[in-house]
Amino acid sequence: MEKIERRKFIKLGGAATVLTLSWPLLSSCTEGATDKKPLKANPGFNPDIEIELTAKENRLPFFPNGDTGFWSFESKLIKGETSVLQKIENSYLGPVIRARKGQKIRIHFKNELPEESIVHWHGMHVPRVYDGHPTDVITNGQTYVYEFEIMNRAGTYWFHPHPHGRTGPQVYNGLAGMFIVTDEEEEKLNLPTGEFDVPVVIQDRTFDADGQLVYLDGGGGMQGKMRGFLGEQIVINGKNDSALSLKSGCRYRLRLLNGSNSRFYKLGWEDGTPLTVIGIDGSLLDKPKTMPYAMLAVAKRLDLWVDLTDRPVGTEMKLKSLPFSAAMMGGGMMDGGMMGGNEKALPLGGAYALFSIKVDQEGTDDFALPAQLAPFNMLAASSAINEQNPRNFKFFMERMKWTINGNTWEPREATDRETVKLDTTEIWELVNSGGGMMGGGGMMGNGGMMGGKDEGGGMGNMMQMPHPIHIHQVQFNILERDTSAMDATVWNSIKEGFIDGGWQDTVLGMPGMKIKIIMRFEDFKGLFVYHCHNLEHEDMGMMRNYSIT
Ligand code: C2O
Ligand code: CU
Ligand code: CU
Repeated sequence: MEKIERRKFIKLGGAATVLTLSWPLLSSCTEGATDKKPLKANPGFNPDIEIELTAKENRLPFFPNGDTGFWSFESKLIKGETSVLQKIENSYLGPVIRARKGQKIRIHFKNELPEESIVHWHGMHVPRVYDGHPTDVITNGQTYVYEFEIMNRAGTYWFHPHPHGRTGPQVYNGLAGMFIVTDEEEEKLNLPTGEFDVPVVIQDRTFDADGQLVYLDGGGGMQGKMRGFLGEQIVINGKNDSALSLKSGCRYRLRLLNGSNSRFYKLGWEDGTPLTVIGIDGSLLDKPKTMPYAMLAVAKRLDLWVDLTDRPVGTEMKLKSLPFSAAMMGGGMMDGGMMGGNEKALPLGGAYALFSIKVDQEGTDDFALPAQLAPFNMLAASSAINEQNPRNFKFFMERMKWTINGNTWEPREATDRETVKLDTTEIWELVNSGGGMMGGGGMMGNGGMMGGKDEGGGMGNMMQMPHPIHIHQVQFNILERDTSAMDATVWNSIKEGFIDGGWQDTVLGMPGMKIKIIMRFEDFKGLFVYHCHNLEHEDMGMMRNYSIT
């Protein structure tokens, strides 16, 4: 199965080369993509931190009886303070890496998997050769040596594999970890640190009766991929235990990461307490934001401030995913088995618990929530070279394929529309333009087709799905979110959950939504990718290069 897919992929690549030559709008850009892979350490690079990260098959006592097979990042500290690697005990996840802005890091990534892989540092600003481009995959037995200076501001980043066509299964099997960056500005704020700074990775998984992972089964196949994987249970921090035991009288920073393949969440406390959000993706917010609930798209991070000063020992707080309207988006009918989905999967848009906080000890701290967090300047729309005429990227389905502007993945191609200049600021308009004819009537009228196993049919025309859109290499600001073309019921059920402040690298494009973002291309040239971070969509080709020249 994997082999067939890979062959297909190679063939497509060949076809694109021909297309490139005969199509004047497409410019072939191979710059950067042919750099030699750094398989050895550079003796001239003197790292503050050096670690070894090995991706390998792993067995863990996830359930009480018997082991479960995973793929995990195993880590070893070669140089640096012991606080650099925070291993989560009994977790299939990789370590939490903690570093400071300005530090130099060397990471030896060893591939001991039975297939090709490469690691990407999600949200981080690194040279092309260290970004985990899909063409940089290494095979079993090889080592890729990353050497870069941490240039990002304080924020919650993460790492995961990025081989084309296999990112979904590799992340699903357990390959992911958090990368936390701190800086001087943040350290002045007296925010919770140490045991009070708590990583919370949220994922969904399905296990079979023998306790083994199941990926896209239960009639998944093509249709499961079209929609994306939805699991039967939530897994927190890669362990079969979703309770955090915290201290009464204390304040916490919970770093939430949605590490799921395609599921997204509407986060809210069960007892109706509002959320206090202090950070998102690649930065703190300028000031704490209180919200009734918050949307957490795939790959995004959200830092919550949790105050347990008035919560006595014995209190339990539950963070839930609250109900929202997911009609036509892989929720509802598609989960009901009609689309060949897994009937036991947690319904997208349903209500279910994510994790609980058990207040089980007394404690003290002297942290305080500052009224002002990180003062920063948003990029002004007027600083963009294309303010009047932003680049436009449409995410939609065409001929049963998820595409960006009608194109799918080509390893070394970037069109003119996908070519930008170093040291410029640009506005991009990201549009989820769906799959064509929509509306309840059409859906019902085609009901007959939906029950069938036929993978073709008119399904493509009816698929409306959110696309969590991610751009490598940059952190951007969100200028505008136009929801006028969205289904009003869907929008009304989620509209108070969006944060447009801060520096972000992934944005949830709901069906019909148009988002204007602004970003600056700095320091590094070459081919970087942008894609839908629904990993099944990405693997199917909803990923493209953009070229910084
Ligand atoms: Cu989280 Cu292209 O990556
Ligand atoms: Cu990324
Ligand atoms: Cu998508």
